[in-house]
Amino acid sequence: MKKLPIGIFDSGLGGLTVQREIALALPYEDTIYLGDTAHVPYGTKSVQTVTRYSKRIAEFLSEKGIKLLVVACNTASAYALDELRKTLDIPVIGVIDPGAQMAVASTKTMRVGVIGTEGTVRSGAYFDAIKAHNVKVSVFFKACPLFVPLAEEGMLDNKIAALTASHYLGYFKEHPVDTVVLGCTHYPLLKEAITKALGRNVTLIDSAEATAIEVRELLSKEELLRTEVEKEGDSDRIGSHKFYVTDSPERFIQVGRHFLGDTLAEAELVDLGG
Ligand code: DGL
Repeated sequence: MKKLPIGIFDSGLGGLTVQREIALALPYEDTIYLGDTAHVPYGTKSVQTVTRYSKRIAEFLSEKGIKLLVVACNTASAYALDELRKTLDIPVIGVIDPGAQMAVASTKTMRVGVIGTEGTVRSGAYFDAIKAHNVKVSVFFKACPLFVPLAEEGMLDNKIAALTASHYLGYFKEHPVDTVVLGCTHYPLLKEAITKALGRNVTLIDSAEATAIEVRELLSKEELLRTEVEKEGDSDRIGSHKFYVTDSPERFIQVGRHFLGDTLAEAELVDLGG
């Protein structure tokens, strides 16, 4: 079991921010990533549709053999996590609770902002997760739908990114917070633009980092963590990473390099049905 890879999925490319943090935090683990590029974006779709896609992907990754499933997509975590936990017999980690927990630990004013897709904001999942950690924390939401295409286009810190960030994040001038959760896979790429719009005194919570920490803790608790001593005589062994997509591997590799750099060399196309 320990030698099996960690399965990770997202609606597309954005979850590579989570894959990257997991690979950095757990260098001896293998990962299998699936980007549902045929169906992206999830952020504007219904609970039923996102849950159906998520279940199909979980089935595909389980058949490959994984020891843990990470739902790297915030929208899928908000909509489908409970259903996946019910149907799979391996642990399932989403990105919402780790980010919520880190935000609660960070806030001093007890006022936390959450930015994400329309679906994530509408679901109330961050609200519930933050309140579960501390009921006294007030939560303020803002959907920032244009951040996803900006990140996909690699417009990370230019005038358009700055204007879009100040357009959305002006909301937090009227509703001041000291901590903002980046509640969407793509947003860590726009950290600079977001920081400039919010001011340096606002702490940004990167759900990708928080999730990698939770993955390490869970694997270690379950005695499933691969460490240096697990190298099996191969002194150079580090984790290997496999990528699957449901549409256009070329575009995935081209745009995915904004997320992973040149380490993303190959992605295999799979057909999971319509
Ligand atoms: N992966 C999605 C999320 O984190 C963003 C992109 C999409 O809408 O599918 O919510």
